[in-house]
Parts: sequence; structure tokens; C-alpha cells
Amino acid sequence: MLSVHDVNWNSKSTRVLDFACGTGLITRNLQDHVSKILGVDISEKMIEIYNKKFENNDNIHGICTDILSSDFNDEISTDFDVIVIANALHHLGDPKGVLLKLSSYLKPGGHVIVLDFFNCKETHEGRSQLFPKHADHASCMASHIHGFTPEQFEDMFKSIGLSEVVTDTSSWQYEFEKDGEKFYMKYILGHGKK
Ligand SMILES: C[S@@+](CC[C@H](N)C(=O)[O-])C[C@H]1O[C@@H](n2cnc3c(N)ncnc32)[C@H](O)[C@@H]1O
Repeated sequence: MLSVHDVNWNSKSTRVLDFACGTGLITRNLQDHVSKILGVDISEKMIEIYNKKFENNDNIHGICTDILSSDFNDEISTDFDVIVIANALHHLGDPKGVLLKLSSYLKPGGHVIVLDFFNCKETHEGRSQLFPKHADHASCMASHIHGFTPEQFEDMFKSIGLSEVVTDTSSWQYEFEKDGEKFYMKYILGHGKK
């Protein structure tokens, strides 16, 4: 469960947009605490798996679409209570633009929640063990490829007009062992209110 300051999860009323939902790991965590979840992903395969996974739950539905594209004109409601984007923002070229676009689907007072890699020494080491091919890309790729710092989250969230910005780098980490040595990938959770 994403425990975030000030979000009143309500199984009768909270409506969530799970952006870049993938196969639905976050939706699965939230499903008992909210009333409806719309999953959105650019990959047809992901949405196929997502919809299969939640086929017995009428309150969860996934659609394959690109809401970030400039000619996107599908009807998506603009009064979500919460928008979640997990493990995806660092993949996207313009993270601030993405958050701005996503917040346009939130009702006033709604919450943006981002879970992503915490850009720190431990995450760099962990990722270079797990994904050795990506290890030396740092110099030629955007810095957010390695995740985000609390300062970056705060700047981004505030610059698009979100308030009550909170970041948390201590609650989430993935731990693994390789050749007898322990590695960690640390996560950062960010919250802002529209
Ligand atoms: C690492 S997965 C994370 C999935 C899920 N949020 C989770 O935490 O398990 C990243 C997802 O972002 C999706 N994605 C990438 N670009 C996207 C876009 N422009 N719009 C929607 N989804 C996108 C990919 O298809 C993929 O499913």
C-alpha cells in the first residue's frame, strides 16, 4: 500500500488513474482501498495482461493509449482523486511535462503520487549490478535515467503548481545479493496536491 501523507483512501469514493500501469502491480496494491481504477499504458501487451488480471473486478479497467501525445483526444475524465505513476517517470523524456499533463486529469485537491528510483549512490551501484549494459550510460543520457532526488521532485512538483509536496526516500528499497555482496536499489516516493 502506498502510504502517503494526507491521502484519504476510501473504498467507496476514491478514483485513481494508474498511469503507465504495466501489468498492474500498483493497481493490485490499491484495489481494496479505492472505488475505481483506470489503468493507462502505451503497450497493448501490458494492457492485455492488466485487463486479464482484473477481469473479475468491474471497478478496474485498462486502456492502451498515449495520453502524452499532442494529438491525444480520447475522453478521459478530468476528476480523478489520485494519479499514480510508478517506475515509469525516469523512462519519459520530459518528466515535468508528464506531471503537468497528468495533473490536468486531477480534480482540485487531488493527489499526484510518483514512485521512482531515488538517484543516489546505492541505486547506481544496484542498477549497474542488475543492468550492467546500462552502467556507463550516465554521461550520455538524461540525468533522470538514474531516478530523482528529493530536490528534483520538489522543484518539479512545485513548478507545476502542486502544493503540500512531500518526498520520502526511506520507506522503499529493493535488496538483493550478488556474489555474496548485498546491493540496494532505493526508491523515492513523491506527493503533491493540486
Ligand atoms: C517499468 S514499467 C512500470 C509498470 C508499473 N507502473 C509498475 O510499477 O509495475 C513502465 C511502463 O511504462 C509504460 N509507458 C512507457 N511510456 C509510456 C507512455 N507514454 N504512456 C503510458 N505508458 C507508458 C510502459 O509500457 C511500461 O508498462
